[in-house]
Amino acid sequence: MRYIAQAPGKVILVGEHFVVHGGYAIAASITEGVRAEARKLASNRIRIISEDLGLTAEIPNRIPRELSPLAQCVTAIVKRCKYSGGLELRLKSMIPPSAGLGSSAATAVSGVAATSSALGRRLSSAEIVELAMISEKAIHGNPSGIDVHTSTYGGIILFRKGPKIIRNSIEPSKPLQLIVAYDEGRRQTAELISKVDGFRRSAPSHFSALLTANNVMVEKVTNLIKLGRTADIGAYLNFYQAILSNMNLSNPEIDSLVESSLDGGAFGAKLTGAGGRGSIIALSPDNKFKKIGKSLSRISERVIEVTLPAPGVRVWIEKT
Ligand code: MEV
Repeated sequence: MRYIAQAPGKVILVGEHFVVHGGYAIAASITEGVRAEARKLASNRIRIISEDLGLTAEIPNRIPRELSPLAQCVTAIVKRCKYSGGLELRLKSMIPPSAGLGSSAATAVSGVAATSSALGRRLSSAEIVELAMISEKAIHGNPSGIDVHTSTYGGIILFRKGPKIIRNSIEPSKPLQLIVAYDEGRRQTAELISKVDGFRRSAPSHFSALLTANNVMVEKVTNLIKLGRTADIGAYLNFYQAILSNMNLSNPEIDSLVESSLDGGAFGAKLTGAGGRGSIIALSPDNKFKKIGKSLSRISERVIEVTLPAPGVRVWIEKT
């Protein structure tokens, strides 16, 4: 038997970075994600294979640095299931790494879901989140958890971290047509989080005022999604791009993807996720969706067309 899990990547519509500091954000799962396949082995070896990185980890003896966060998750699951046999976990990603699309979270969520399924344990969504966060924390230092929650639960989510996490599903009155375009330059989320933290320390009152403004705007966007007022949501995306750019999180490549989207008739466009380089989202009128996607594909490494809401992690079993 092969135990398969597919976990989606994500985009952040509004509120990235502020969410790390206790503010609200809205994220959505996308159709592309990471597929994980687990099976028990007759030997007592535990092996993780990343097809994209071309790397294999043998736990506990030979763990490449890149696979160490996931190896920590797998070790925790094996312990929780009191399993002492062998296991193989194989991963294949359809989303680029370090591009602001939640590939590390989708990797951890799919890996946790497939592994636990192979070991005969059906984890609750809350347990998947808890175990996947082991990897997220090891990679990003101080993540909000929004990526893991979005990949696990799916849909469009209003999120706030804290001792009592808020995670409310937002039901749109009509689907949102989003174009995701990414710029191939990689960047480290942890570095960008600490850059914003530097800004917060140097101008605490200004940052706190922006955090309050963010929360007001996130509430407005939540209602606009429920009402299906797509053009107005786009206006907020444009405003966020200006704010994030002012916080030095954009760059010329992202700016030109945004410009091209708006020139093609998008309602709004902004960077998504940590910024630096990474990806943009463009919210488009139905009749301009294809045209904008086409013009972005001329200047971007890859374009993904997404209709929101999309599902969260799915687990199934295939006979071998
Ligand atoms: C997450 O995709 C983007 C950031 O908000 C970091 C986080 O929430 O952990 C920048």
